[in-house]
Amino acid sequence: MMHFFKEKLASALSPMVAVDATTLQDWIEIPPDKQLGDLAFPCFQLAKSMRKSPQAIASELAPKLDTEPFISKSEAVGPYVNVHLNRKEAVSYWITQMQENLDFFTSNGGQNQAVAIDLSSPNIAKPFSMGHLRSTIIGTALANLLESDGYQVFRINHLGDWGTQFGKIIVAYHRYGEVEAIKKHPIQELNALYVRFHEEAETNPALEDEGRAAFKRLEDGDEATLDLWRWMVSVSMEEFNRTYAMLGTRFTHVLGESFYNDKMDSVVKELSEKHLLTTSEGAEVVMLEEENLPPCLIRKSDGATLYATRDLAAALYRYRDLGATSLWYVVGGEQRLHFQQLFAVLTRMGYSFAKDCRHIAFGLMKIGGKKMSTRKGQIVRLQEVLDEAVRRAREIIDEKNPGLKSADATAKAIGVGAVIFNDLKTHRIHEINFSLEQAVAFEGETGPYVQYTHARACSLLRKAGLLTGNESTNEWVTFTLNSSIDIAEIAAYEWDDVTYELVKTLSYYSSVRQRAIDDSDPSQIAKFVLDTAQAFNRFYHDVPILSASDQDRRLRLVLVDATRITILRALKILGLECPVEI
Ligand code: ARG
Repeated sequence: MMHFFKEKLASALSPMVAVDATTLQDWIEIPPDKQLGDLAFPCFQLAKSMRKSPQAIASELAPKLDTEPFISKSEAVGPYVNVHLNRKEAVSYWITQMQENLDFFTSNGGQNQAVAIDLSSPNIAKPFSMGHLRSTIIGTALANLLESDGYQVFRINHLGDWGTQFGKIIVAYHRYGEVEAIKKHPIQELNALYVRFHEEAETNPALEDEGRAAFKRLEDGDEATLDLWRWMVSVSMEEFNRTYAMLGTRFTHVLGESFYNDKMDSVVKELSEKHLLTTSEGAEVVMLEEENLPPCLIRKSDGATLYATRDLAAALYRYRDLGATSLWYVVGGEQRLHFQQLFAVLTRMGYSFAKDCRHIAFGLMKIGGKKMSTRKGQIVRLQEVLDEAVRRAREIIDEKNPGLKSADATAKAIGVGAVIFNDLKTHRIHEINFSLEQAVAFEGETGPYVQYTHARACSLLRKAGLLTGNESTNEWVTFTLNSSIDIAEIAAYEWDDVTYELVKTLSYYSSVRQRAIDDSDPSQIAKFVLDTAQAFNRFYHDVPILSASDQDRRLRLVLVDATRITILRALKILGLECPVEI
């Protein structure tokens, strides 16, 4: 909506200041303090051409703009002209837009583009870390965001299921492993074996050789060793899948690093044919001096390939076989160098898609201010964090709404939603400190707060007989927005500050979504949902809805419904569920 009125304001100003409307439109701002108005025009850039002070220009323009029918008031404040829109006109415009395109929640900017998003990607036999959690949450939100813009999205889980560590775990398994214990707590036990291996190797260095030999057997395709490895992969996956089920994570491709084993030779061959390989101390590397990066290690002196080699093969697979036009990697900031090297090698290989590769980095997630390390075996089991979040949500629900029918499902939606929202409300690059207490609270900038606001909107609609649907599938339909609203009705309505503010906030949705896509930044959606929830709750407290006169009630319920749909769609993008009752 604001975009439309920016355009209108720019066209009105253009003849007055002799600057084209497109340029002016870029200058127009939205004042940070809403008391100041809906739009603000800064006059600094005109000072030179008009040979007047910005203040003088502002005082000159303000009364001229006052005569425009879409403006209710314009005033000069220092170097700015602040503009208050004619609310009736603004609201009519927004509602008409919404009725014409109920789906302003989606668009098709991404048509004919396919993005491969590398997300989650935990390591077999190791705990699912906070970093993997962040990658899963951020990657899923980005995937949903792109899909809402018509992109084709591949959600790829690049499991760490290959590498020398498996040789070590296998050796430790033969020496100290217990099948039953592993079956019960696969990751905990397999990780303990890995830790034990390192402890024992300190006094018994021969173990290292054994480990290398075991990995060699794996690489050579020894069936018995492979069987053991497959078993470790499958028990680990069972545990990861429980976490994915809880988070509602889905993948289009689960392709571990091992998937690329038979694709390595051709990568090395291609590098060699393109004269990119240099031998250094027996190993083969790609020198990246011009890029100011350390050499990228491709093959060790014993012939073993590396993490980077597998990522090269994976990138080519995504581009050639899957047909992805850009490759995104949602991986912690500590792997920055790895991705710089990877993209540099792809560029050297002559692949122009390398410029469309993005490392979507993020900061650490700390619990109670501490970073979690898995090396020394100190594990915060993610599943425990999620379970605890759900348990606390359940406690709060039991207190607030003891008779709630679907309490279990609701507690899960709230508890998991709390963890997801806590992650996404801050820009991903920042470190986040996770406090369960704060995340699960129904007050403050939390998932439960916005979910509760959505449920409140549903409850109003239900009381008004406007929410009908299927409780078992949790699909609900309302029809207020589809029924036509008479523009005359809107004109007759008194658009008080609080109601107008709600409309204005809702109207930002499509532009916020677009910006979130452009910046690959889901936190903009999360902030928008918080603003919407705040504006709605003020409206709910200050303005009578169900008890209002027929006409007012009808219009207000339309706004309630618009709020409901907007929060629902936005939270869906972020990966949160929205129970209709809490
Ligand atoms: N498994 C890796 C880790 O836990 C992350 C993989 C990220 N994706 C990639 N294509 N390198 O550190």
